[in-house]
Amino acid sequence: MAKLLNEFDYAAVHAQAEYLLNNRKRLKKSAIDRYMNYFETKCAGSKAEMEKAKQVIPGGIQHNLANNHPFQLAIEKADGPYLYDVDGNRYIDFLCAGGPTILGNNYPAVREAAVKQITENGSVSGLYSPYERELAELIKKHMPGIEMFRALASGTEADIIAIRLARAYTGKKHIIRFSGGYHGWSDQLVYNDNGKRNTMKNGIPTDCFQNTHAVPINDIEALEAEILKWQDDGGVAAFMMEAVGQDSGTIPTTKEYHKAARELCDKYDMLLIYDEVVTAFRLGMGGAQAIFGTKPDLTVFGKIIGGGFGNSGGIGGRKEIMEMLAAGISAESETKVKVGGTMTANPLTTLAGITVINELETKNVHAELDKVSDYFMRGLADISERYDVPAVLFHHSSILHIDVSGLAHVPYFVKESDPKYWDHMLAAYTRYLEFSMALAAEGLIIANGGKTYFPYAAIDIVDDALDVYERVFKEFE
Ligand SMILES: Cc1ncc(COP(=O)(O)O)c(C=O)c1O
Repeated sequence: MAKLLNEFDYAAVHAQAEYLLNNRKRLKKSAIDRYMNYFETKCAGSKAEMEKAKQVIPGGIQHNLANNHPFQLAIEKADGPYLYDVDGNRYIDFLCAGGPTILGNNYPAVREAAVKQITENGSVSGLYSPYERELAELIKKHMPGIEMFRALASGTEADIIAIRLARAYTGKKHIIRFSGGYHGWSDQLVYNDNGKRNTMKNGIPTDCFQNTHAVPINDIEALEAEILKWQDDGGVAAFMMEAVGQDSGTIPTTKEYHKAARELCDKYDMLLIYDEVVTAFRLGMGGAQAIFGTKPDLTVFGKIIGGGFGNSGGIGGRKEIMEMLAAGISAESETKVKVGGTMTANPLTTLAGITVINELETKNVHAELDKVSDYFMRGLADISERYDVPAVLFHHSSILHIDVSGLAHVPYFVKESDPKYWDHMLAAYTRYLEFSMALAAEGLIIANGGKTYFPYAAIDIVDDALDVYERVFKEFE
């Protein structure tokens, strides 16, 4: 039913997605009822908490990742590979906070470094700390394309600055990105496809996004055509892409596309920006750029470089470009690009990031994660065969792509102008929600949106995780 696919084989992923959309299965109604009953009876504390939260927090929820069906779980303890909710239920954590906690929860070396830092120095002073240099040096050491690094307080902020810097450096106006990609929620980058998805541009004046354009993934002719379209209207400053592809690689980029995109950026004197918010230090010490063998001009960071602490983000790249960044009074110069942020580069987050990066290197974590992720995904492909459940299955190291709904693939097979487009989306979304709900009820949490991250702390319980998936796959019609 589902072979394990190669993560660079876009054509195979696309073909399997088409098969999935035409043949997908649904969880049995009896199983869905049982899972709903789990939440009603075993998660009463979470339910009560959600009702209270709704009174003071719009929608009761502040993060898309927490958007569990039928209601969000209130988590009160996290330890190693597990999360515990307020009702005392235990879950394997394949969400990893959306990527940052690659080592697992409350990892001892990180906890100890953070506790020492807080005990001796508090959390933030607003002044320079040597950890800032240490983190920049570490990133430079592992990623040769990064000659200089500047911290920022989130991936969203770092994406904003990446395009501001690209425009200042090139003197050009337009930005191109993938349709369906994610680069945070700023006015210029939040929505996809030139504003066609109206739901994502409420409150954003047209002026804000008229210079941001989207192209289909892996289509180099489309990219060149888009560049040419704006040649006489201010030109294109940068092409920005999630290096592994849309939505952390759910729709994967090919190696050939990276090479061709680099060549096009050189040909038209524009910058190539890799958004490695998810992939830096997740796919390996050199990030996605080491895997694809291409050197972007700028790289956007977030998540892991903050070691699982708040205000994690940054931008790195060629010295000549990076030296245009300045803060405060020095940013008054015409040639500088202004950045700031009260909590940016705070020593707690910076030290946590340094600790995690060192741990990843000394324990050779990525080699272990590559191995165990492959074992897990092969096991899952076997389960999918045995229970005859169609799925798209592949992985970029410990980013696992496990899809039984086809949600991310719908726009590649149904045009948005098709009157049935939203029906297709809703059908896929319903199956997606049911699947993640079933996994949670069986004891494992994945990210809302479908991405799944294998944490280092779960290496010894990989078979328990496979058992959870088997219990759910058994319940498909
Ligand atoms: C590829 C990518 N870019 C940017 C962001 C935004 O980062 P943050 O949530 O830190 O603002 C995300 C967040 O998930 C992301 O996945």
